[in-house]
Amino acid sequence: MSKLNKFKRFTVTSALPYANGPLHIGHLAGAYLPADIFVRYLRLKKKDVVYICGSDEHGAAITIKAKKENTTPQEIIDRYHKQIKDSFVEFGISFDFYHRTSAPIHHDLSQEFFLNLYEKDEFIEKFSEQYFDEDYQQFLADRYIIGTCPNCNYPNAYGDQCENCGTSLNPTDLINPISTLSGKPPVLKPTKHWYLPLDKYQPWLEKWIDAKEGEWKVNVFGQCKSWLKSGLQPRSMTRDLDWGIDVPLEEAKGKKLYVWMDAPIGYISSTKQWAIDNGKDWKLYWKKQPNEADDACLLHFIGKDNIVFHCIIFPAILHAHGGYILPQNVPANEFLNLEGDKLSTSRNHAVWLHEYLEEFPGKQDELRYVLTSILPETSDSEFTWKDYQARVNNELVAILGNYVNRVMILMHKFYDGKIESNAVKIVLTDKHLDVELGHFYDELETSLETYKFRQALQTVMEIARLGNRYLTENEPWKTIKTDPASAKTTLHNSLILIGHLASCLQPFLPATVKKIVEMLNLPFSAIAFDKEMAFANGHQLNPSALLFDKVEDEVIDFQIQKLSDKKAASTPQKQAEIVPAKENINYESFAAMDIRTGTILTAEKVAKTKKLLKLTIDTGIDQRTIVSGIAEYFEPEAIIGQKVSVLVNLEPREIKGILSQGMILMAENSDGKLDFVSAGNDDMHNGSVVR
Ligand code: MF3
Ligand code: ZN
Repeated sequence: MSKLNKFKRFTVTSALPYANGPLHIGHLAGAYLPADIFVRYLRLKKKDVVYICGSDEHGAAITIKAKKENTTPQEIIDRYHKQIKDSFVEFGISFDFYHRTSAPIHHDLSQEFFLNLYEKDEFIEKFSEQYFDEDYQQFLADRYIIGTCPNCNYPNAYGDQCENCGTSLNPTDLINPISTLSGKPPVLKPTKHWYLPLDKYQPWLEKWIDAKEGEWKVNVFGQCKSWLKSGLQPRSMTRDLDWGIDVPLEEAKGKKLYVWMDAPIGYISSTKQWAIDNGKDWKLYWKKQPNEADDACLLHFIGKDNIVFHCIIFPAILHAHGGYILPQNVPANEFLNLEGDKLSTSRNHAVWLHEYLEEFPGKQDELRYVLTSILPETSDSEFTWKDYQARVNNELVAILGNYVNRVMILMHKFYDGKIESNAVKIVLTDKHLDVELGHFYDELETSLETYKFRQALQTVMEIARLGNRYLTENEPWKTIKTDPASAKTTLHNSLILIGHLASCLQPFLPATVKKIVEMLNLPFSAIAFDKEMAFANGHQLNPSALLFDKVEDEVIDFQIQKLSDKKAASTPQKQAEIVPAKENINYESFAAMDIRTGTILTAEKVAKTKKLLKLTIDTGIDQRTIVSGIAEYFEPEAIIGQKVSVLVNLEPREIKGILSQGMILMAENSDGKLDFVSAGNDDMHNGSVVR
């Protein structure tokens, strides 16, 4: 081990998933698969490592879901905690402990942290005007409020963060804020909160983060630098909510801790519970040791939307508390897309792990393999079912499975599965194979230790490719007649190579390794991730079994169809934004509007604009010019002849030097694009404003 070698102990975490829905492939590829591969590797290297996770059960993510399903937050977290935990077990995510933030030990520790900072006078106590929903008599924190991001103009940014550009926000930063409860603009009302003075810690944070240059991934380091550059602001650690951990102060009755204060502390409380259950000392994994060289190496695996919380806010909390180690590295991944579109829970555009398990029973390693091959390590990446099929068929079946199968079949055919020679031990006798293997082990370790898991998996597959080439070159099925000793040597060497394959596959495909080890009839201790690999003379192999099955076209077509069906059936994404009805108008006001049916005769782009089309419309009364903001959605040629409803008595207006006489009526379809309002347009969702 290179750089990591200096550490005796590792504390590895994966982001605590919100217990507000099932897991999908994006979760696995973001924070869990990479961490699991890494941790399995550390264990192979005999490192002292604890791998910690748990369900994140507080915050608006939970209460909003409960409200949507008309149930209690408790029911939501119990349901999804169980489902999420089961999915992790099924996919072999090898946490040492999976806890939950609703546990009393976690509430206690979070309150202890708060009080520690409070007693040291770290917080700034401030009355401020906060958004309040009058219909619901509730303050609107975090996800209870959406609006336009001041940084990137994304229209659905949350009150605490823009998921589009990653910026961390306060509700009052949002442009045109809307309550997600009532759908109305909120009012401001004063309330008292406790703020973490991030500005005060800025110099310290800068120094700490600057030292990570070159070690942290460029995307992570870059994001941190840009936040520091724009200047950190105090951030409230308390909320006016009725679900969460009580703020442990008499004067803060009814207030809760901010979920992003308590959740990362969940890593520590989860470790504490693990230690209690397993007779360990949690402090060794979290606290600074008398001798710095004895400190554990803390690593947070997360998705990119969590960077600010793990690289700025949580370290600041740990620093303010004192006595705790800080993350050595935060290898955050980018996002995984699916079939050309963002993964989306609300639009049901996802491959859900629990559904995959039902439809592809026993094929967890296939998904682990494909996802590892496309991990969004340096940029967003994409899962498609065709690619899944290609990787399973052309790589797992044709290269890995085929190699193991060829060797096993020949061993059984020629020698009844018995490894026999005149030596006591059967070891690798081919110099070339030995040298190549040496390179592969080196490459593999380097990739794994620098969090390049895609590359690492490719290296392991090179071992199988090497094996296939070795077989083809040595043709034991021919030499068995002409030179039986050579055939035997070839097959014994090939078996040793399978042992190495199994050894190196351990971080990636645990279930497959188990199958190989069973066929080889070896204990796990025999594949100890080193270059020593041998069979005892007379060793008997078990019967051969296929490792992977080919994925047929029908299976893939079905999945692709299912995704497009789901997308069509899902409630439109923008539903949360449905604008409340305007005030009633009388009939006269309505009758004052003159709306006619018309036809578009000509359409052309308005020069130097992105959005505008200049249309000539036959209104039946006349032919007139109307400028319309639909150029992003329609090619001019495509709408000539289109029937439209036209508001003909709207005051003429000059737009970009063109006199526009009226307005054509459009509404947003379920993809968020403006479309013509016409009967039978199934893409149009209810509640979209005609404009
Ligand atoms: N629940 C958060 C999310 O899904 C992640 C929490 S990570 C932790 O984005 F550090 F707070 F635990
Ligand atoms: Zn943004």
